[in-house]
Amino acid sequence: MLKHLSEPAMVRSAALLMVLVLCADSQDYCYDKTDCDPYAWGDSFPSCHPLLELHHSPINLDHHMVRNNSLGPLHLEGFDAIQTGHWTLENDGHSVLLQVGSGMAVSGGGLPGVYHVIQLHFHWGGLATNGSEHTVDGRRYPMEMHLVSMKSIHPNVSAALDDPTGLAVLGFFIDVVYADNVYFGLISQKLSSVAYRGQMTKVKPFPLLSLLPKHNMSQYYRYSGSLTTPPCSQAVVWTLYEVPIYISWSQLAQFTSQIFSTEEDAEQVTPLQNNFRHVHPTFSRTVSASRDAGLLRGTAGRPLGSAPVVHLLQIIVLGSFTFKL
Ligand SMILES: *[C@@H]1O[C@H](CO)[C@@H](O)[C@H](O)[C@H]1NC(C)=O
Ligand SMILES: *[C@@H]1O[C@H](CO)[C@@H](O)[C@H](O)[C@H]1NC(C)=O
Ligand SMILES: *[C@@H]1O[C@H](CO)[C@@H](O)[C@H](O)[C@H]1NC(C)=O
Ligand SMILES: *[C@@H]1O[C@H](CO)[C@@H](O)[C@H](O)[C@H]1NC(C)=O
Ligand SMILES: [Zn+2]
Repeated sequence: MLKHLSEPAMVRSAALLMVLVLCADSQDYCYDKTDCDPYAWGDSFPSCHPLLELHHSPINLDHHMVRNNSLGPLHLEGFDAIQTGHWTLENDGHSVLLQVGSGMAVSGGGLPGVYHVIQLHFHWGGLATNGSEHTVDGRRYPMEMHLVSMKSIHPNVSAALDDPTGLAVLGFFIDVVYADNVYFGLISQKLSSVAYRGQMTKVKPFPLLSLLPKHNMSQYYRYSGSLTTPPCSQAVVWTLYEVPIYISWSQLAQFTSQIFSTEEDAEQVTPLQNNFRHVHPTFSRTVSASRDAGLLRGTAGRPLGSAPVVHLLQIIVLGSFTFKL
C-alpha cells in the first residue's frame, strides 16, 4: 500500500503511524477502536501477541475434549458465609469489578493448590449482540462472569502472573430468562452508581454461593490459558462451568446500556459494550471435561474454526508492516 503514495505522503503516513504507535504505548487498551482493540493489544503489550505466546484465552469449547475422571467438584471455602466488612464495586473502564475481600478460597477439582478469591467481573455484548468470552460450539452466551483467585503461596498478583498456574479463574456463562435473579440483582441494582469509568460504590457482602448455579457445579471444563485482558499473562488455570447463571433481560440491559467506558465529565460519552476478547486456537493444549460434565456434541464442518487463522494472518501482515518502520 505504501508503494502507491508519493514521497511526502509516505513521510506523513509514517509520521502518523509513529504518533499512533507512541500513543499506543502510553495508552490504555480498549475494545472499540482499531488502534487499541484486542487485535492491537500486542503492539503495546507484547505478551498479548498471539504468535509469540501460544496459550491464549478465551477459546471455543467443542467436542475436542478429554474426559478426566479425577476432576470432581471444586471446594468453595467461605462461599456460603456472609463476609465481614464491605465489598467494592468499580467501573475500571473495561469492566465492572466486585472486589470481595479476603475471606474466600477455592481448591480441589485438580487445582494445584489453594487459591484466594480476589474479585469477580463481567464481560457482555451490545444491545443486539452476545458477549461471553468463551464460546460453546461457536455459540456465544449473552454474558460471562469471571471469579479470579490467586494461588496462596504468592504475595501479590504480579508474582502470580509469573507462575503458569498462579491464578485460577472460574468462568460462568450467563444466559437470559424472564425472571429476575435476586442475588444477581444485588450487583446489577448498584450499576447506576458506577456508570462511569473510575466510579466505585460499596456493596453489602452476601453469600457468594447464592450467585452461582444451584446444581450441576461438578460439570465443568478445564484448560491452561491466559488473562483475557492485557498483559494477557499465561498464568491462568481456567474452569468453565457448563450450566449457566440465569438473569433477566432487564438485568442484562443494565450492563449493555448503562455502563460507560468514559469518565463522567468526558466530552464524548461512550457506552462500554462488547468487552470480550476474540477466541484463540487451542494449539497443542488439552481441554479436559470433568467427571460429571456432559461432553459437547460436535458439529461437523462448522465455519467458525477458520476465523482465528484469518486473524493470525492479519496480525502477521500488520506485524511486518510495523517492522519496516
Ligand atoms: C487429570 O487431572 C489431574 C488433576 O488435574 C491431573 O493430575 C492428570 O494429569 C489429568 N489426567 C489426564 C489424563 O489429563
Ligand atoms: C445469543 O444468546 C441467546 C440467548 O441465550 C441465544 O438464543 C442466541 O443463540 C445467542 N446468539 C449467538 C449468535 O450465539
Ligand atoms: C510482589 O512480590 C514479589 C516477590 O516477593 C516482590 O519481589 C515484588 O516486589 C512484589 N511486587 C509488588 C508490586 O508488591
Ligand atoms: C444437572 O444435573 C442433573 C442431575 O445430575 C441432570 O439430570 C441434569 O441433566 C443436569 N443438567 C444439565 C444442564 O446438564
Ligand atoms: Zn474476565
